[in-house]
Amino acid sequence: MSKKVLVSGGLGYIGSHTVVELQKSGFEPLILDNLSNSSPQVAGLIGRITGNRPFFEQTDLCDFDALEGFFGRQGPLAGVIHFAAFKAVGESVAKPLKYYHNNLLSLINLLRCMGLHGSPPLVFSSSASVYGQPARLPVTEKAALQPPASPYGQSKQMGERIVDDAAKAGQVRAISLRYFNPVGAHESGLIGELPPGIPDNLVPYITQTAIGKRERLSVFGKDYNTPDGTAIRDYIHVSDLGRAHVTALERLSKGNNASGHEIFNLGTGKGYSVLEVITAFEKATGVKLNWDFAPRRAGDVESVWADTTLANLKLGWKAEKGLEEMMVSAWKWEKNLSAGILDQ
Ligand code: WQD
Repeated sequence: MSKKVLVSGGLGYIGSHTVVELQKSGFEPLILDNLSNSSPQVAGLIGRITGNRPFFEQTDLCDFDALEGFFGRQGPLAGVIHFAAFKAVGESVAKPLKYYHNNLLSLINLLRCMGLHGSPPLVFSSSASVYGQPARLPVTEKAALQPPASPYGQSKQMGERIVDDAAKAGQVRAISLRYFNPVGAHESGLIGELPPGIPDNLVPYITQTAIGKRERLSVFGKDYNTPDGTAIRDYIHVSDLGRAHVTALERLSKGNNASGHEIFNLGTGKGYSVLEVITAFEKATGVKLNWDFAPRRAGDVESVWADTTLANLKLGWKAEKGLEEMMVSAWKWEKNLSAGILDQ
């Protein structure tokens, strides 16, 4: 049986950590990436971790003929894991067509090619942003979806819907994974997140401030209805997230899925406030952070954390790494990045 798994966007942040976990589990990941938000050096760095440099081809999934050519050349696939997408929330508000074009056309092209070439199972990257501010916490997969706050969030909801309709029509078997807040880096410090320009997300902003690339971290909002007044999120280590994709693929491969399109939350089930994350970083690394309070950020919700019961029971997956490991690994990566690991 084929062990080949197409990983679109496999040089990106979550994709690269998933490729490592796939190789560890005996799969042969084949990476397609258009390098819009990643670096070709990552393939070599994955090879340094696993001893096995993965296949990589620069391909844009919006190019149907190029994608179809790839499927034709590779023969049967054990599965497809689809990460390739634009993900900058703010940019998506300014450039909605760019986001809808890329995030939706790539998925549609992929589903069409899969249908033409043996219908391998699909694992789709979704986002906890589909929940907005949930009425009840922890949030389960059954919670009502909220109108998305950005074209990025809308493209993820529409992506889930496209997968759902294709599954109902018997055209694909799929699992969508709703990520909470992925942070951290591989324990080797060889791969991690490459935020382009000024980071939007908390942990890259923390590590860039600690290393001196940014002067000061702004903590957005101090008057939320939370114990310390700052917003709460469910931060999950990116390697735990990578492992969940392998588990999801195995569930589909074995035919253990309960329906044509299952959805799972991926989080730790525990929420931390922004101030708790800062304290955890300082404690884990011994580095003092320069920060102050700033007004709330538009579009931010107050508190979100996951009910992970379904993923624990059905996928047999549980997040293992805690906040300290997330901070230590993110810091190791930042130091390697600043030391020029991508230029070696
Ligand atoms: C976390 C908390 C901020 C930066 C976003 C997207 C989501 C997903 C993940 C996917 C919030 C606070 C942040 C800073 C701060 N994207 N913060 N100072 O907003 O939960 O989720 O990333 O691809 O779709 O919306 O994550 O890391 O930006 O923020 O105080 O400089 O940290 O206000 O409370 P968020 P985040």
